[in-house]
Amino acid sequence: MNNQKKGRESWGSNFGFLMAAIGSAVGLGNLWGFPYKCGANGGFAFILLYLVLVVFTGYILIMTELALGRATGQSIIPAYKKASDGKLTFVGIFSAIAPFLILGFYSYLGGYSIKYTVANLGDIFNANWGVKGVDGSEFFLNLVGNIPESILYTIIFLAITIFVVARGVDSGIEVFNKFAMPALTILLIIVVIRSCTLPGAGGGLSFLFKPDLTVFKGSGWITVLSAAGGQMFFSLSLGMGILVTYGSYMSKSENISVNGIVIPIADTFIALLASLAIMPAVFSFGMEPGAGPGLLFMTLQSVFNSMGVAGPIFGFFFYLLVVLAALTSSVSLLEAIISSFIDRDLIKGKANTRIKWAVIFGLLTMAEGILVAYDALGSNLPLVFGQPDILDAFDLIAEGILMPIAAFLTTIYFGWFKKDFLPAEIKADGSAFKTEGFYRFCIKFLAPLFTFFVLLGQINSFFQLGWF
Ligand code: PFF
Repeated sequence: MNNQKKGRESWGSNFGFLMAAIGSAVGLGNLWGFPYKCGANGGFAFILLYLVLVVFTGYILIMTELALGRATGQSIIPAYKKASDGKLTFVGIFSAIAPFLILGFYSYLGGYSIKYTVANLGDIFNANWGVKGVDGSEFFLNLVGNIPESILYTIIFLAITIFVVARGVDSGIEVFNKFAMPALTILLIIVVIRSCTLPGAGGGLSFLFKPDLTVFKGSGWITVLSAAGGQMFFSLSLGMGILVTYGSYMSKSENISVNGIVIPIADTFIALLASLAIMPAVFSFGMEPGAGPGLLFMTLQSVFNSMGVAGPIFGFFFYLLVVLAALTSSVSLLEAIISSFIDRDLIKGKANTRIKWAVIFGLLTMAEGILVAYDALGSNLPLVFGQPDILDAFDLIAEGILMPIAAFLTTIYFGWFKKDFLPAEIKADGSAFKTEGFYRFCIKFLAPLFTFFVLLGQINSFFQLGWF
């Protein structure tokens, strides 16, 4: 590749940075996590609590990570090292391991999204590689059982991810997101319109939005808070150094506090749109809403199968948008993993080693993805940490433990010890930091509290401890 950069890279424009940061946030979490969790946890009540968490913790952590990246001009591991004089280097390491584990299973699921896009395309042309005539669940289970095909699609998904990341920050990640994010939003709006105008769509709307305050009764509010907190962490890509890395490519003249507001608003807006795309259709065809891969790859495919001639067209649009959402997130995961290695080489005076590290870690995650595909959702490998499959075991370590611990220690350090470091950076562009008082209060008290609570909630749900 002849456009290999020599020194440290940066974004071409603030719009490009925003698309990339929103692209990282918007992903499978928005599409299969939010709609179901919202419906199952009190609808409007869940949304309110989610918003409170976004404002008091999500926004605060986004600003913190972006400012940490820009202040140090370094990606995750060296950024923590530099900002804490070595004391928090291990937090940087935690934050770098988490995306490595997540990418291992994200690419497997992203690969399936490609398979479904291709299959629905096949149905549009009545080709024999479509899903027509096969029940959504059966199609999915056959695919999971077909290990060579599962591995093939995982590899295709990762190959695209590696290609985009290897091209660089502005000519790869930014260019891809500037195209993919608007395209994804348009596709989503098309599917929302179709879904909400189906007969019986109202059932889905009331599942989603009907305020059910009984979920807060007794210790119920803790369960809802825990579901909303875990969802928010994953959805906003927090505690994984992604925004540290993306912030380190920002120019000093960009306004962190404004960007920090736009990212969670856009992510939440897309999560709500995704809910409107999915649940009305699920209810219209009398299906049971569920969460996770089942909702995306079984229930929804059955919905498209029942839509008649238009089904494959909407199916194709829908799964294409899932692919774009997954790719813009996987690109950020790979970037977060490799950027510390690129920076380490740059510090040593070497040229930019982006392509080398993108390929090395791309191949290592491929090995993880192959392991996940081989396990076929828990059929072939022994149980790890009591989890139902290797995918959940990776997720437990990353989402359940490393991410919340990293985020918690980050809030403690910058809320109680190095208090002025990040606010100074946020003001470095000369702009007024209007929310400074709010930021300082939240990073000191509320964000550590909520983050610690998310840690407890994750451990409780992964190990089914029944604490609350
Ligand atoms: N935020 C993405 C989603 O909601 O699917 C997933 C994700 C991407 C999580 C990047 C974490 C991350 F660092």
